[in-house]
Amino acid sequence: MRLLENNIQSYDFYIEKENMHDEIAKGLAAPVKTISSKFLYDHRGSELFEMITELEEYYPTRTERSIFNDKIQEITLAVGDVQTLIEYGSGSSNKIKALLHHFTSLKEYVPIDISRDFLFQSSLELAMQFPHITIKAVCGDYTAPLTLPLEPSGKKVIFFPGSTIGNFEPVDVRNFLMKSAQLLDEGDGFLIGVDTKKDLHTLESAYDDKKGVTAAFNLNLLTRMNRELGANFNEEQFEHLAYYNVEKGRIEMHLESQCDQQVIIGEHEFSFREGETIHTENSYKYSIDEFQTMALECGFRPSKVWTDVEEKFSVHYLEK
Ligand SMILES: C[S@@+](CC[C@H](N)C(=O)[O-])C[C@H]1O[C@@H](n2cnc3c(N)ncnc32)[C@H](O)[C@@H]1O
Repeated sequence: MRLLENNIQSYDFYIEKENMHDEIAKGLAAPVKTISSKFLYDHRGSELFEMITELEEYYPTRTERSIFNDKIQEITLAVGDVQTLIEYGSGSSNKIKALLHHFTSLKEYVPIDISRDFLFQSSLELAMQFPHITIKAVCGDYTAPLTLPLEPSGKKVIFFPGSTIGNFEPVDVRNFLMKSAQLLDEGDGFLIGVDTKKDLHTLESAYDDKKGVTAAFNLNLLTRMNRELGANFNEEQFEHLAYYNVEKGRIEMHLESQCDQQVIIGEHEFSFREGETIHTENSYKYSIDEFQTMALECGFRPSKVWTDVEEKFSVHYLEK
């Protein structure tokens, strides 16, 4: 643990290089080449994601923010006398900033993210803005076992906005919800943003914008592997691909090889055929009923749900 400011502590539980090399080599050796979306978030990836959230086509951030704004009184009431707020995938911590003013009983905020510099920088800014709250910034992979530095008493609420839960396979959503329930006591809560199913055009343009920012975000993974793993991807020979898989209810992002080619990562060599892809992200969409049913099966009582008028996005409050 390191003390950065009077009211901020940092915990570093993540070792990129080892994890990254082995996981990526395994994913590229599989019959359908796949790399976990968590590797999209190096510092540049986090910056590009922030730019995506401002795009005209990217409705999730704008819509979720409008729900937080419009329903803030009901949300504050549901969250009650929260003392510890844990945020998974906190990124820039932008969304929590708007809520912290209202959660007046809050003593500690525990943001968890894999993007180290981005997390610590955002946490420092937050610590200066909210000097009465202790910030415990945890750099780690929330899909791996993590021992969080929590105070043993008081009401705890987990915050997981941005529909990041959509990046998990449905079976992993269940495991994650059950693991989260174990962290909480009776009466604690889980405030989570979940993207809903909607028309194909709205969905697909959100992941393939006109300015090409999402394409740059996806392709940055190749640049990252070249820099951090000594790979030799030629970024110009891959293209960003995003489409909605209706049967699975998810947006899929891929990097498509534009020709037959070989790529070297350390001592491994991988062959790509023209048109073959690396599957880099899924973003599952859930109806309100679908999500509440999963939550119920995993130890939570769906207590409240808020949406915008068009039901483009949902914010659920689940109670343990
Ligand atoms: C879709 S972004 C959402 C960011 C922000 N919460 C929002 O709502 O705009 C996902 C965030 O989760 C982080 N992340 C992705 N996979 C992660 C993992 N396995 N462990 C920890 N953080 C992760 C990324 O670095 C990024 O900040």
